[in-house]
Amino acid sequence: MSLIKVKNLKVHFPIRRGFFNGVVDNVRAVDGVSFEIQPGETFGLVGESGSGKSTTGRAIIGLEKVTSGEITFEGHDVTSHKDRKEIDYDQDVQMIFQNSFSSLNPRKRIESIIAEPLKNFENLTPEQEKIKVLQLMKIVGLSPDALYKYPHQFSGGQRQRIGIARAVATNPKLVIADEPVSALDLSVQAQVLNFMKKIQCNMGVSYLFISHDLGVVRHMCDRIAIMNRGQIVEIGSREDIYKHPKHLYTQRLLAAIPSTKVADRDKDRERRQKIEKEYKEKQKDYYDKEGRAYPLVEVSKGHLVALPPKEALKYKDIKEEN
Ligand SMILES: Nc1ncnc2c1ncn2[C@@H]1O[C@H](COP(=O)(O)OP(=O)(O)OP(=O)(O)O)[C@@H](O)[C@H]1O
Ligand SMILES: [Mg+2]
Repeated sequence: MSLIKVKNLKVHFPIRRGFFNGVVDNVRAVDGVSFEIQPGETFGLVGESGSGKSTTGRAIIGLEKVTSGEITFEGHDVTSHKDRKEIDYDQDVQMIFQNSFSSLNPRKRIESIIAEPLKNFENLTPEQEKIKVLQLMKIVGLSPDALYKYPHQFSGGQRQRIGIARAVATNPKLVIADEPVSALDLSVQAQVLNFMKKIQCNMGVSYLFISHDLGVVRHMCDRIAIMNRGQIVEIGSREDIYKHPKHLYTQRLLAAIPSTKVADRDKDRERRQKIEKEYKEKQKDYYDKEGRAYPLVEVSKGHLVALPPKEALKYKDIKEEN
């Protein structure tokens, strides 16, 4: 059974403007998104700024109201707050943000910051609590003397690790990581990602990994969904997305990843210019008159792409022949 199943999720925000403050229009931040995450899996949600990634994550954890659609967690309908109360949803699903500094209370020591979720959900004696906090700190590579320090005494990477330790303190089944390394230097990014992987090996947690950067999710994610304008335009395994990208938007995101070799930077630029030109010319084929992506078609097992109708036909034929 899937850990979480998101079906046709929509989150629309009304825009009030004009003389009478009436609702004129809706921002379709999330507009019909469906995916599933398996236990122990890392699922990537990637797209440019404003594509609706964070809103999707926030709706799942309950920070945004769902306009329509369905969220199921281990077979339980958790679309509304009422449904979530019946199961341990608030304990099982946690979130980490891009900038942990703003979410860590500056007046509290690391010990009580990491212990906070334990107090909410578990009945531990002070000794048990301390042991648990030390275990968590060890997993994310923080030394025991960090216990009595304050958030400002740590580097960005260390603070992010503190945020991760706190998020996994209650043994959640799903952690929503919204751009967890975007604010960090490249070298520190790799280190924090490795700690996240280690935690997954130890605890079997699933990640919903949100990023604008296909370069970052490359070594983290088992499957990836590419989001644009509130919709998923391509979804598939890591191999499908990096080796056989089919949607023009995915190809454009891939072209934005810089080469590791500095000598290849000129080639990078050429490649980007080529794809930008192609994107300008052809992107209208990929969206209907209202700017919505076409329905996803399965181009190979588990690899779905919102192809223009003409191209989609090719794959429908193959399916019908089989
Ligand atoms: N509370 C809100 N009220 C109105 N519009 C909103 C609200 N929250 C988000 N939006 C809009 O919804 C769209 C999606 O926003 P979202 O934050 O989900 O994008 P994102 O993919 O996470 O982008 P980024 O990479 O910049 O974090 C944007 O157009 C945004 O302006
Ligand atoms: Mg965001």
